[in-house]
Amino acid sequence: MALTIDSRVKLNNGVEMPLFGLGVWQTPAGATTQRAVKAALEAGYRSIDTAKMYGNEADVGIAVRESGLPRDEVFVTTKLWNSDHGYDSALKAFDGSLKRLGLPTMDLYLIHWPVTGARKDTWRAMERILKEGKARAIGVSNYMVPHLEELLANSKVVPGVNQIELSPFLYPKDVIDFCRKNGIAVEAYSPLTKGHRLGDKRLAAVAQKYRRSVPQILIRWGLQHEIIEIPKSAKEEHIQENARVFDFEIRPEDMRSMDALSEGLHVAWDPMDEP
Ligand SMILES: NC(=O)c1ccc[n+]([C@@H]2O[C@H](COP(=O)([O-])OP(=O)(O)OC[C@H]3O[C@@H](n4cnc5c(N)ncnc54)[C@H](OP(=O)(O)O)[C@@H]3O)[C@@H](O)[C@H]2O)c1
Repeated sequence: MALTIDSRVKLNNGVEMPLFGLGVWQTPAGATTQRAVKAALEAGYRSIDTAKMYGNEADVGIAVRESGLPRDEVFVTTKLWNSDHGYDSALKAFDGSLKRLGLPTMDLYLIHWPVTGARKDTWRAMERILKEGKARAIGVSNYMVPHLEELLANSKVVPGVNQIELSPFLYPKDVIDFCRKNGIAVEAYSPLTKGHRLGDKRLAAVAQKYRRSVPQILIRWGLQHEIIEIPKSAKEEHIQENARVFDFEIRPEDMRSMDALSEGLHVAWDPMDEP
């Protein structure tokens, strides 16, 4: 079926998550985040990715509430920060995020980073949050295969989502295959390489072929791989441009040439450093 801005992925507990959304890391708190989220919702985005660490949960909440859209039409994700790991701390951190967002329930709550020694207890708290219906889905972020194997061996609930750094320049097939085999949806962060590779000549050639921009080609590549994409922009024109990716299709040969750009580039951090 053709991809649209309303395309959704069914998570392993039946909850439907939009395939496309807006990220707000490093979007300054206050009016800038509120404006970005408002612009995104007006452009048809229906998913917003924030985190306690980003310091802008409250602004995301304000913009979502002020949009006038029914609560069940906007999918909100936030994340548990590293200093909040542990069973009791995680429950408390979740309540804090929910309060700052000003929402009755969370759509998706993620462990931001697999902190060694604490992540197992944290996951038990996440399971409780899910069971009590406070979050519709729970998941993880920056979990590589060893972290996922440990989690699956020690828990009852399989994460709905694993949010990892992913772009044509970092295309970790081992993690993607593991997630898909175990029913975990894959979500890409830094899909635009935080801007580092927007000048790549090989991408520019593909973009020119389809009369698109490099960011649009990068987003479309991920969507065609059925990867959830959450590009960040604080600029209204970029927010709109990034959403215009549903009226063209990258042909298989160009998808393959983009796949082949993978070189293990991390623009954020490498979770394999976390034992
Ligand atoms: N779980 C994690 O550990 C983790 C880590 C990193 C990110 N994330 C999530 O993933 C989201 C996206 O990743 P990211 O913020 O690292 O980076 P990104 O989406 O790869 O890139 C964002 C950069 O690209 C620029 N940009 C966006 N659209 C553009 C366009 N059409 N033309 C030119 N430049 C454009 C933005 O600048 P402007 O704002 O000026 O447009 C910004 O500098 C984050 O916001 C966050 O929600 C999660």
